Amino acid sequence: MDTIMDIDQVIIDANIATMVPTGPNDEYGIIEQGAVLLSGDKIAWIGPMAQMPELDLLSIPVYSAQGAWLTPGLIDCHTHIVFGGNRSQEFERRLQGESYQSIAQSGGGIATTVRATRAADRETLFSKAKQRLDALLREGVTTVETKSGYGLDLESELKLLEVAAILDEHHPISIQSTFLGAHALPPEYKDDADGYIDLVCEQMLPEVAARKLANAVDVFCENVGFNQAQTERVFKRAKELGFNVKLHAEQLSNMHGTELAARYQALSADHLEYLDEAGVKAMKEAGMVAVLLPGAFYYLRETKYPPIELLHQYQVPIAIATDFNPGTSPLCSLLLMMNMACTLFKLTPGQSLLAVTRHAATALGLEDRGQLAQGMRADIALWDIEHPSQLSYEFGTGPLKKLWIQGVLSKAF
Ligand code: NIG
Ligand code: FE
Repeated sequence: MDTIMDIDQVIIDANIATMVPTGPNDEYGIIEQGAVLLSGDKIAWIGPMAQMPELDLLSIPVYSAQGAWLTPGLIDCHTHIVFGGNRSQEFERRLQGESYQSIAQSGGGIATTVRATRAADRETLFSKAKQRLDALLREGVTTVETKSGYGLDLESELKLLEVAAILDEHHPISIQSTFLGAHALPPEYKDDADGYIDLVCEQMLPEVAARKLANAVDVFCENVGFNQAQTERVFKRAKELGFNVKLHAEQLSNMHGTELAARYQALSADHLEYLDEAGVKAMKEAGMVAVLLPGAFYYLRETKYPPIELLHQYQVPIAIATDFNPGTSPLCSLLLMMNMACTLFKLTPGQSLLAVTRHAATALGLEDRGQLAQGMRADIALWDIEHPSQLSYEFGTGPLKKLWIQGVLSKAF
């Protein structure tokens, strides 16, 4: 092995869930008694200790996992972590019987958060979002996608994306930004959704592209959001400007947004409670990932389940995420989502770990992470567990022991 001189850290005596399955009966891709050799920010070698290349271990830091488990750093592929205020009072209203939609229609919901977000300065937005990232970091999360969508005017949308860029620079977690200007109708465009979509397409998208502030573009296609034609206009412009697209689809009703997203080679469609078989088929054909959000399902007390059986049947890869946001999922725990994906959506613990590693990376169009293999980013979590199924099985025990992000050992432990 000619890179042997470049090895700068070694992890030995680890059980490893590589998440590179070796066959139909091994969803975890397990290496027992394994080792990982790191070179800078990448994995240079991974395999059983017995086959480890010879190294001068006296000159390299060696970490013994003492039989504990390594997994890829977890990936939260759908969040809205940058926003102002909170909606605890609307939570109270919902508990008294009002629905999410009726609160939205009476000027609350996303509009409440838009008012608070427009009023918030960058420092406040940064420090609140940082607290959320810190919580995710303590759970082994190394990549987080976050969306704009609570500004809804050019200046405020740019403010949210700029805060996300500053977080990416100053926080160890890798941030992937998505522009969600078409999240809701701002008050200035009440009764003029098409006029607002003009603003999104003609001013916001070109500015976001010019400033390189987002990797992807998302739309809330819903009866309380935007219709198919409006969604398509945003997708067309986004594609012209070189963005990947993804969609909040079939969350509260079946708008057939997923089929539209498939026609635009979207990376993912997310939520999907009301998705039908035609939509599942379209996802399969377009190679999309289904991002399920059990936190929002639980928080809205939804009773309509996403078509899990059909997704499995058509072999559509499933990712899961927190959807952390002030309205439908103020739940900042990806490990909790893994548990919910099993208890509510009947995923196996193996499918649930795949859903926050390999499939979550695919949902973001990232090929350099989500698996432990030679050449991948050295984003590695070390867990005090006896089997990887334990990550979905128990909750609240803080099983993370160590975390490497791009080869750097996090100081949080
Ligand atoms: O992903 N569905 C649209 N957007 C968010 C909720 C937004 C809000 O209520 O603030 C979601 O569930
Ligand atoms: Fe969302």
